[in-house]
This record gives sequence, C-alpha cells and structure tokens, in this order.
Amino acid sequence: MSKVTDSLVLPTTPETILPLVLEVMARTPDPRLRQLLCSLSTHMHQFVIENQVTEKEFERAVKFLVGIGQETGETKNEVILAFDLFGVSTLVAMLNNPPGKEDESSKAGLLGPFWRANAPVCQPGDNIVRSDTPGITMEVRGVVYDAQGKPVPNAKVDVWQASPVGLYENQDPNQADMNLRGLFTTDAQGRYFLRTVCPSGYPVPTDGPCGELLDAQLRHPNRPAHLHFMISSPGHKVLITQVFADDDVNLASDPVFGVTAPLVGHFEKHTVNGQTVAQLTQDFHLVPGEMVFPHPPIP
Ligand code: BEZ
Ligand code: FE
Repeated sequence: MSKVTDSLVLPTTPETILPLVLEVMARTPDPRLRQLLCSLSTHMHQFVIENQVTEKEFERAVKFLVGIGQETGETKNEVILAFDLFGVSTLVAMLNNPPGKEDESSKAGLLGPFWRANAPVCQPGDNIVRSDTPGITMEVRGVVYDAQGKPVPNAKVDVWQASPVGLYENQDPNQADMNLRGLFTTDAQGRYFLRTVCPSGYPVPTDGPCGELLDAQLRHPNRPAHLHFMISSPGHKVLITQVFADDDVNLASDPVFGVTAPLVGHFEKHTVNGQTVAQLTQDFHLVPGEMVFPHPPIP
C-alpha cells in the first residue's frame, strides 16, 4: 500500500487490496452481516490470488452467475441447483441440524428446488397420485416423535416427489397440478400414512449453466430415487428431509451430494395378489425450536 497523503492509502499490489476492502466491510453496522462480509471478502481475495484467476476466467464466472439468475423462474431454481452441485446446500442443512438425543444421526436433508407451499390437504391413507402416473404402488407410514421420544399428534407431514418419468408436476404438462404432493396430519399417536407410487431417479435440470458445469466435469446428472418430507409442529424446528431408495445405483454418486447415511430408507417390495407393492416405514424426530418455513423456491 502506498500512502499518498496522511489519510489516503492506495493499493500497489494485489495483496494490498484486501486490507482496504476489509476496512470498508468492518463498517457494516449489523455484526453478523459484518462478519459474513469480511469472511467472504477474505476468501474471495485468497481464491483469486491463490489461483491467479485470469480475466477470461473471471468473465466466465460472471457469465455463469448471470446465467443461473436468468435461468431461475416458475419451474426451476437454477441458483439453488448451483449451490447443490457444490455440496453447499447439504453442508448448510447438516450444520444447522445436528443429531438429536433420541437419534444419533441428523435426519435433515436438502430442500431442493421443487418444494411448493400449499400442497393439497390429505386424509390418512390418501393417495397423492392425482393424474395418470406409471409406477409401483407404495405405502409410506411412520411416526413423528418429539425430542423426548413422545409421539407428536397433529404434526404436518408435507410430502412431494418426482413422477416415475423423472419429472416433478410443475416441470411436466402431462401431470395434474400438485400431482405427487400432499399435506398429511399425524393422528393422536403421532402416526402418518400415505399412498403414492415408488419414486425413480431423475436427472437434475441440465438445460442451463448447471448442465454445462456437469458436462465440463464429466459428471452424470441423475439423483437417486427419493421422497421429500417437510415435518412441522408448533414449538418445533421444521424438519426438511429426503428419504432415498436403498437399491438405487446412484446412491454414492448423487450430483448434489444429498445422500447421507441416515437418509437411506428401506423400500421393501412385496407381492400382493400378483402385484408388486412397495412399503416404506419412516419415523421422524423433531427438536424444539421455532416453526419457520423456508421460502418456496418455486411458486
Ligand atoms: C430435489 O431433490 O428435488 C433436487 C435437489 C437438488 C437439485 C435438484 C433437485
Ligand atoms: Fe427431489
């Protein structure tokens, strides 16, 4: 840094820009925002210097960021997808949902870009198939517990999934609005029960900048089959999670790093009257906290 006058200090080398930036960031009144901005500035400057980022590479990075914003709309959220592809969404979910007392492992998972608020209200045993949907019938049941291991009555169990053709209803004009989405309520014993079709794996959207990124890395886009859940009850933290089919070939290569050991469920297959039916039993454990819902990634 060179001192031009007593009060004016200007950078002279790449390393001397950061101290000036930090001085400005340090004036941010909100302490948490100040901490995050100082840390982010430090990491960005270190990244650029450590990698000797070229002007062309910087231009490419800007193009990617503009692209993910432009690609985000009614049917997908490419910005969330970009964080997912770097494992950051899973990291944030794990960090903020440490293992409970009852259960040694964190059962929180990715929200993903396809949750919609206001899923149709369902009764126990309802089928969330709302238009012609191929696939094996599946029954899903379980109990919602609190941190003391007591069943939670009247908890809301919001469930959503892609159809076996690999698309969520909002991505697919051939599915009814809200197909494979439903909002269930636990009974007096904390139990929920729903019917659906067995999910299959599906590719994350590849028609935008995130698809180009996967291509450049020779990564496949296919998520292993899963069901999404969001469990809520007043006085408890909202539990957002996914349950994966234990027989899926892509469990170990999920492009969004969403599969953690506690989230693998046993999709048991039975034959009933010559027809295959899958069954999943999945309990959930809530922890005390504020019932705050995420902002829906899509309307
Ligand atoms: C999903 O599970 O819906 C999802 C998560 C991350 C990226 C794309 C889809
Ligand atoms: Fe999904």
